Amino acid sequence: MAIEAEGLCKGYGSTRALRGVDLAVPAGTVLGLLGPNGAGKTTTVRTLATLLVPDGGRAEVAGYDVVRRPHEVRRRIGLAGQYAAVDELLTGRENLVLIGTLLHLGRRAARARAAELLDRFDLTGAGDRPARTYSGGMRRRLDLAACLVARPSVLFLDEPTTGLDPVSRMSLWSAVRELVADGVTVLLTTQYLEEADYLADRIVVVDAGRVIADGTPNELKRKVGEERLEIVVTHPDGVPAAVSALRRVTAGEPVVDRDRGVVSIAVGEGVDSMDGIATAAAALRRENVAVADFALRRPTLDDVFVSLTGRSA
Ligand SMILES: Nc1ncnc2c1ncn2[C@@H]1O[C@H](COP(=O)(O)OP(=O)(O)O)[C@@H](O)[C@H]1O
Ligand SMILES: [Mg+2]
Repeated sequence: MAIEAEGLCKGYGSTRALRGVDLAVPAGTVLGLLGPNGAGKTTTVRTLATLLVPDGGRAEVAGYDVVRRPHEVRRRIGLAGQYAAVDELLTGRENLVLIGTLLHLGRRAARARAAELLDRFDLTGAGDRPARTYSGGMRRRLDLAACLVARPSVLFLDEPTTGLDPVSRMSLWSAVRELVADGVTVLLTTQYLEEADYLADRIVVVDAGRVIADGTPNELKRKVGEERLEIVVTHPDGVPAAVSALRRVTAGEPVVDRDRGVVSIAVGEGVDSMDGIATAAAALRRENVAVADFALRRPTLDDVFVSLTGRSA
């Protein structure tokens, strides 16, 4: 295990931020720590990264106890937060060279490492501009690059894409995937099921300082309910034809909401979602059903929460 925690507890005054958190992350895998605001994600990350001392429980990161051997832990980890910790006045390249120099890489090796990381994160063109001119997405990428100068074996990413536009989010996701391909262990916190789904091997859902569920993305989604294909018919008279068309696509029974003119079927269980979509579209056309909307609806974090806790996130 690259990260292992048992019964972690942490309070701030009267707020009990962590109430016994257990985690186990095998080396070379990605754990998604998923939860709403205030769930305890940042507190968990800061405790594992030795920035906070837990009140109870124990944790090991990269084989070392976070309380007794914090220096050993720090030498092996990287931490990128929600707020990029780059020096605004320095250029991207200078930021990275500075870190390399502080790590005693030596001037030449520090410059080489900076160039390599700028290239890897598509920042070569902007490398000699002050970081204050960077977009939000570029800052996050520079921040991630800064964490990697020391070649950590365990990386903590605290809401790495919150507030980013979809294109920047995708580019950060692919950067994380590359790191994992290189064997880095990643613990990533997020409020987006979609992000955990795309990046994580396993997901742990936290709420109010406790783990309320864990599993692979598919196990978790199955617990919540599967992907559904929703068809909105143009006219309510089209509902019966839509139902008969969709019956041929799925083993289950289509669900009908007559008032909204919506017919939906589960995909994913037995029906692969792409095949299901294609077959459903063809069947609807054969029955001449006029369709106003045709959409694949995935369970959201909110669906996970409602299903697990009975309340909205
Ligand atoms: N420095 C702090 N002082 C007091 N309370 C805090 C502090 N940091 C976090 N908290 C509280 O601890 C709980 C967990 O916070 P946090 O770990 O930041 O959650 P998340 O990262 O999931 O949003 C919240 O109730 C939050 O208000
Ligand atoms: Mg947080």
